[in-house]
Amino acid sequence: NQDKLSSARFSEATNAFVEKFTASVMFDQRMAKQDIQGSIAHATMLCSANILTEHERDTIISGLTQIANEIDSGQFSWSIKQEDVHMNIEARLTELIGITGKKLHTGRSRNDQVATDIRLYLRDQIGMINSELRRLQVAIIDLAEQYADTIMPGFTHLQVAQPITFGHHLMAWYEMLKRDYQRLQDCSKRINIMPLGAAALAGTSYPIQRELTAQLLGFAQVSANSLDSVSDRDFAIEFTATASVIMMHLSRFSEELVLWTSAQFDFIELPDAFLHRLFYHAAKKNPDVPELVRGKTGRVTGHLVSLLMLMKSQPLAYNKDNQEDKEPLFDTVDTLLDCLRAYADMIPFIKPKQEKLYQAARQGFATATDLADYLVRKGMAFRDAHEHVGVAVKLGLSTQRDLSEISLAELQQICPMIDNDVYQSLSLEGSVSSRNHIGGTAPEQVRAAIQLARAEINQC
Ligand code: ARG
Repeated sequence: NQDKLSSARFSEATNAFVEKFTASVMFDQRMAKQDIQGSIAHATMLCSANILTEHERDTIISGLTQIANEIDSGQFSWSIKQEDVHMNIEARLTELIGITGKKLHTGRSRNDQVATDIRLYLRDQIGMINSELRRLQVAIIDLAEQYADTIMPGFTHLQVAQPITFGHHLMAWYEMLKRDYQRLQDCSKRINIMPLGAAALAGTSYPIQRELTAQLLGFAQVSANSLDSVSDRDFAIEFTATASVIMMHLSRFSEELVLWTSAQFDFIELPDAFLHRLFYHAAKKNPDVPELVRGKTGRVTGHLVSLLMLMKSQPLAYNKDNQEDKEPLFDTVDTLLDCLRAYADMIPFIKPKQEKLYQAARQGFATATDLADYLVRKGMAFRDAHEHVGVAVKLGLSTQRDLSEISLAELQQICPMIDNDVYQSLSLEGSVSSRNHIGGTAPEQVRAAIQLARAEINQC
């Protein structure tokens, strides 16, 4: 009757909906290479442990190799009927080699399988992230070397504070990325631990050889607790946290580039490919790439929060919630790689406008501190020197002159200690080169920092 018919139709639609709702193959198929790699190692271990015959092992490996080729050439047909990447590959394996295909999953569960795949995938991706990060660091160092003597204003509160060099500013960026590189290396240590063998949650009754599988897959260690192995996603959170810090740094660079390319600052030129030229306003170019990178930072930090919230209430051990770890993680990887690449490509083409930078550094009494230091060198107490400088700055302000433009007679009226040698201190070059110690802005120190950075990079 009519009622029965519509309820059957409804339940069919619902089934289809739930099938799609619970599937992950649309996004986890990107781990296919790692899934196959893990399965080949697992089959090899099963054979070594006499759980599979050599013939079964070889049949499985050749089936998996064929599947890898099918995937590479785009011939593999993914189906949400098989839910995820693991089941799609296993179903195809059985289709290809028959009953032996069904033996592959002995002593294993999708729970430890997926945890292993993500770690393998992330390990591969971090390799690429590391090399993009290195490329960016080298680009920054090269540019810093080129402009180690170029004077620019240094800011506090976005107000001109003291003269620095462009190279010094860039090397500050390098330092941020150096810590990021270390953070990535550190979290890699915890990623490179193999959960396989934990099975569903409690381990397996087969005589598996976990160390062998780990060795085959290049893992440094096997995980210590089966419950933790299948439910831990800290490693993904740590990676995303590190990615968020890197993005935060790129966002800060972006903010500076946006300011520096504005008509108001006009400090640098960015290469045209990274800008958007308004067609009705040929003179105006928008810094699209830095702005997008700045915008994407929120997205990655959002993924970090997603993963933290995903995990916060999960009881041990595996829960289906964990399927939700992939999209934030994958998008973090993609976004980070793209942004690092954009920066590594863009930095070498940055052109500082040296005259503009120099003139900007002459504003805002950038050498006021140098005058105070000068007086201290002549024997005055720092606080007193500070007061005298205040008077000199006031005079400069009221007569619209920089400190270096005030005559010696006028300066001596403020403080008789002052001599003609004061102008060395008041010059931008003198100010910059006097900050000559580790971490200082003197060109000599910038070059030393660059040399050290190159050595650091060549070390690992
Ligand atoms: N697609 C699943 C995930 O991403 C694989 C693990 C499923 N395990 C299970 N027992 N349902 O987490």
